[in-house]
Amino acid sequence: MKKVLAINGSPRKKWNTAMALQSALDGAASAGAETKLVHLMGLKFSGCVSCFACKRHENNAAICAIKDDMRPVLEAAMESDVILVGSPVYFSNLDAFTIAFLERLLFMNYTYSMEQPSKLTRKIASGLILTMNATDALLEPLGYNRLFKHYADTMHRVLLGQSEFLAITDTMQFTDYSKYMSSIFDPEHKKKMREEKFPQDLKACYELGRRLALV
Ligand SMILES: Cc1cc2nc3c(=O)[nH]c(=O)nc-3n(C[C@H](O)[C@H](O)[C@H](O)COP(=O)(O)O)c2cc1C
Repeated sequence: MKKVLAINGSPRKKWNTAMALQSALDGAASAGAETKLVHLMGLKFSGCVSCFACKRHENNAAICAIKDDMRPVLEAAMESDVILVGSPVYFSNLDAFTIAFLERLLFMNYTYSMEQPSKLTRKIASGLILTMNATDALLEPLGYNRLFKHYADTMHRVLLGQSEFLAITDTMQFTDYSKYMSSIFDPEHKKKMREEKFPQDLKACYELGRRLALV
């Protein structure tokens, strides 16, 4: 049975990114996979600290040496066939929790050897799900597609398996926009997106999860 692990980088455990990941996991489960969702929010961890323990010859198969709450998450990732990573876009990048997770996961499997670029001896497929305020029309001009492709390509290079990204645009950030300084957004438009576009986005996540579980 395939093991599919989803990592939610959003601090919100029940909103856009978490829902997108749950839908992807539902898709994976429909293909017979065993699924698990981990929220990074609440865990105590750092990004890579450049100790190079993972690069030492004697540590070829070792998990990242930092002993914090990320360690069991990395152990679960190493036992997975598919890793789904969900991140909200923060200031035109992935969020800090997700970046810290990826630094740790990817660097511990990466080598500086030409003959063996990844320590992995099997392929782990990966999917990156991004949620954001930006609209579809802004994905190219803001350089978001390039950014997402960069992360998907890096995951492919280190984890060796197929890697895809899925951008969920124009999300509803607040349930009540009137409470926040947010006049650049039209609450009616956001409501419409939530009711009409977001369900389609969730469907695309379901299909992504199912597709990767069948790889
Ligand atoms: C700190 C912060 C920075 C953000 N920066 C961007 C941004 O640069 N571009 C964008 O499209 N959305 C940005 N957003 C909006 C979020 O990406 C968007 O609301 C996302 O769907 C939130 O995911 P969540 O509901 O899972 O928390 C930002 C939100 C926060 C909290």
